[in-house]
Amino acid sequence: MEKPAWREISAEKPFKLEFVCLGNICRSPTGEGIFIDLVKKAGLEAFFVIDSSGLGPWHVGEPAHKTSQLVANRRGVKLPSIGRQFNEIDFDRFDLILAMDFENRSGILKQARSAADSSKVFLLRDFDPISPGTEVPDPYYGGMPDFEAVFDICKRSCESLFDQLEKRVRR
Ligand code: 4NP
Repeated sequence: MEKPAWREISAEKPFKLEFVCLGNICRSPTGEGIFIDLVKKAGLEAFFVIDSSGLGPWHVGEPAHKTSQLVANRRGVKLPSIGRQFNEIDFDRFDLILAMDFENRSGILKQARSAADSSKVFLLRDFDPISPGTEVPDPYYGGMPDFEAVFDICKRSCESLFDQLEKRVRR
């Protein structure tokens, strides 16, 4: 993946990211919670807007999966997500849309209305320093180790992305 040329980020023009998975209860709330934590620790809350959604409607209005919350909380990360379904309006609301797997990415791109919309869509793991361009596996039918693996993948991918974006912040 060619590294995007990130725009300058200011309080007047904060950078808006959306994490997207299938159900919006496991993977995308985990990415969202980790990124929020990184932003808070850096004191950059005024410069970022962070949200998540799912392609499916089944868990709209629900908090993150209990096991996702347990794994995140043990590592000091809160998952504030309330389930929401991805909508084409999200292309107007966000600068960067991060899909958790190839199917999510296809589902998002199908709703794109223009090349500008499509250009906002990446895999979260495009930013994974260890295994770029791969998928965050769906832990929904798995056990604790699957949820732990999702957390680890999201953490290192979010850290790498945050390092890039932080350099573009103009306080
Ligand atoms: P997520 O996991 O996409 O990481 O939130 C799933 C959650 C729910 C379902 C599938 C995946 N589901 O089929 O209800």
